[in-house]
Amino acid sequence: MQIAERMKSIPFTPIRKIFEEAARREAAGETIIHLELGRPDFDTPDHIKTAAIKALEEGKVHYSSNYGIAELRAAVADKFKRDNNLDYDPATEIIVTVGATEAIFMTMMALLDPGDEALIPMPAFPAYTRCVYMAGAVPVAVPAKAENDFTPSVQDLRSQITSRTRLLVVNTPNNPTGAVYSAETLEQMAALAVEKDLIVLADEIYEKNIYDGHRHYSMAVYPGMKERTITVNGFSKAYSMTGWRLGYLASSPELIAALIRIKQYATVCAGTFSQWGAVAALNGPQDSVADMGAEFDRRRRMVLDRLATMRGISFTRPQGAFYIFINTTQVRKPPRQIAAELLEKAKIAVVPWGDEHIRISYANSYQNLSKAMDALEQVLSEWCG
Ligand SMILES: Cc1ncc(COP(=O)(O)O)c(C=O)c1O
Repeated sequence: MQIAERMKSIPFTPIRKIFEEAARREAAGETIIHLELGRPDFDTPDHIKTAAIKALEEGKVHYSSNYGIAELRAAVADKFKRDNNLDYDPATEIIVTVGATEAIFMTMMALLDPGDEALIPMPAFPAYTRCVYMAGAVPVAVPAKAENDFTPSVQDLRSQITSRTRLLVVNTPNNPTGAVYSAETLEQMAALAVEKDLIVLADEIYEKNIYDGHRHYSMAVYPGMKERTITVNGFSKAYSMTGWRLGYLASSPELIAALIRIKQYATVCAGTFSQWGAVAALNGPQDSVADMGAEFDRRRRMVLDRLATMRGISFTRPQGAFYIFINTTQVRKPPRQIAAELLEKAKIAVVPWGDEHIRISYANSYQNLSKAMDALEQVLSEWCG
């Protein structure tokens, strides 16, 4: 049977490949420590689960509006005002999505024509490139270099703009690097987007995962940006709700009118009782967000301290998200082989990333991370001793 031509550019992500291999080993009786997934290990806070259970008990089991339930859109609008100083109209400027993933997919499908170009600072979360391909458009990689704290330079972005450039992806705090773009950088990127008439996909899903006194700024607050930005966020990371499949996007009524037409045929709406849980997440107490953030930071500091003493690796101190992007060139093995051998020898799952890096996530317990660091240290000292 023949599959579509476009699928040639859509591989299974390295993250999922490692996860599947780790799962296979676990099924065969091995104990693996998962450092590959961007999945907070905490349970969803109780008051959120209670709200979803109540919704189920009350029979809130039917389709909602394509835009999402009005109560959740209102809560999202309040959140944008409270946290990001952004005014979005819940009736015309917000769509509840099936995770931030769907928001990214909808954006690329609704706003890019075949042959259009999208600027993507690299390294990047794989969904951007793949969704650009699915839209028949062309991803254009712009380097975000370690020596520049993994922030792309505005000159480099400018130099890649052609008459076909339509969209710029801005993901801060960043997966996989943990970079948090400064207000100054965002202001310059915004000015470039206005000058070159670009749409910006601002993926802010790690907004609450931020450390060392750094601050998150939303792209849409800069002059001329609200109408050209798709602000994407979600519940997976901040509230440990990855399995609920809930996110949201906000933009101008004109862009929303295009985006919603994709959604009708992709998923219709996000799960209705999940949406009621999300209302409780945004309107309820935020202590759990702060508690999870503090625990992430405790783990992060321990892991960074341990990694700093290990041979063969180097890294830039991440300021956000929950990943450490580790340069492995001194190990003198391709990252894919490093990941395979770490799984085999150290029983830890990590993600190989390009030709020079692995990514580890510290969304695992302190105790497991501590064990994983012992195992990693041992293997690295064998390789680089
Ligand atoms: C940068 C980034 N954006 C979006 C997502 C997707 O999140 P969701 O679970 O809301 O689909 C992820 C998940 O890892 C991510 O890292």
